[in-house]
Amino acid sequence: MEQQYIIKGGKPLAGEVTISGAKNAALGILAAAIMSDETVTIENLPNVRDINVLLQAIADIGAYVDRVDAHTVKINGKSIHSLSINYEFINKIRASYYLLGALLGKYKSAQVALPGGCDIGSRPIDQHIKGFEALGAKVVIEHGMIKAQAKELIANHIYLDVVSVGATINIMMAAALAQGKTIIENPAKEPHIVDVANFLNSMGANIKGAGTDVIRIRGVEKLHGSEYSIIPDQIEAGTFMVAAAATRGDVLIKNLIPKHMEAISAKLIEIGAQVEEFDEAIRVSASSRPGHTRIKTQPYPGFPTDMQPQMATILAMGNGTSIVTENIFENRYKYVDELVRMGASIKVEGNVAIINGVERLSGAALSAPDLRAGAALVIAALCADGFTTIDQIKYVERGYEDFEGKLQSLGADIEKVDVDDEKSIQKFRLRVS
Ligand code: UD1
Repeated sequence: MEQQYIIKGGKPLAGEVTISGAKNAALGILAAAIMSDETVTIENLPNVRDINVLLQAIADIGAYVDRVDAHTVKINGKSIHSLSINYEFINKIRASYYLLGALLGKYKSAQVALPGGCDIGSRPIDQHIKGFEALGAKVVIEHGMIKAQAKELIANHIYLDVVSVGATINIMMAAALAQGKTIIENPAKEPHIVDVANFLNSMGANIKGAGTDVIRIRGVEKLHGSEYSIIPDQIEAGTFMVAAAATRGDVLIKNLIPKHMEAISAKLIEIGAQVEEFDEAIRVSASSRPGHTRIKTQPYPGFPTDMQPQMATILAMGNGTSIVTENIFENRYKYVDELVRMGASIKVEGNVAIINGVERLSGAALSAPDLRAGAALVIAALCADGFTTIDQIKYVERGYEDFEGKLQSLGADIEKVDVDDEKSIQKFRLRVS
């Protein structure tokens, strides 16, 4: 049954919220986990749909997967019997292509269905292929599959023409079991790159420089078992920071790494929010209307594209004109029409959004266009006058664990209901009116 959020806006968020493990780190780590024939235990796993789909894909090729609890999984790649990942999985979650690098590294052979239907713009994989080929693999695309094969993988010097998170992780995994020392220049530096490298190292890989401009990987013969805990989710944390400021609330966001949040903290401070850093927490509060600013999305440590919709949403209620420039993906403004239906004044020209802040948004019937845009619409609804419904929340559930539960615990009036469950919708309306 399809579900939707129903939200009554107008309450400042207040209290404490705990951030889950990083989805994008977990996707790389789960794929890398199959590269050992010993058992790997992974903790602080976020309990979200993308993770559950990747675990199914891993189980589907024969790996042992034991979901010990919602946030812990044991994986053993010894029993893998197939080196082919079905379209069924890649269609649901693009990052199952990480199994290409993992299987190629371990078995020198892999095939994965070509990622199709993209929701935030065309997303080529030429840099992944360039990396595999540089390591000596033959890569062909036929019958909708990418097939990569090598007699042996030999280290090489690889320069990425485009800074790509996916390509960096995929190449790192394959090179971890190649012969010799691979150098990746111009890699992505996102926190999850570092986390995947740390995880591989915990299994016996020899990777240095992840998070800097050059990654050096000395290939090892095999990887052993490990126990590893995933870093907190930078984007979930950023989403709650913006939600706290947008609702003019006061929220302590716990279990995050403040260093990862710097680009977001800086922008929130610039528009008038108070941001107080602790060792593993950040407190965000605001008491007046946000100001205006300019934002350009960039690879880390720049402002993350995955925070662009949330930030544009708070700016839509800001005082003055803000300019947002999206430099990573070409089609990431699909939520703008929804915000306009709530009364926002935003014009998109190419990759630039010109936002004339309005004093108030009003509730409307909305639909989430993708994961982060869906979260942005929730933030808008929490600030808006009256009731908002948001359909297609399956996108939000790809990456946010118990989003409505965490928001409820901060005092928000939000509930997840079946789309045609009029009774629950009526009950919610009565309760919060
Ligand atoms: C990852 C994140 C996603 C985030 C994005 C940018 C995961 C699972 N997803 O996506 O949430 O929005 O990083 O931070 O971690 N490109 C090429 N050729 C390639 C690969 C990429 O031209 O071979 C381009 C893309 O079209 C895009 C840019 O490089 O314009 C960045 O993409 P990339 O960093 O690869 O994003 P993903 O790994 O897909």
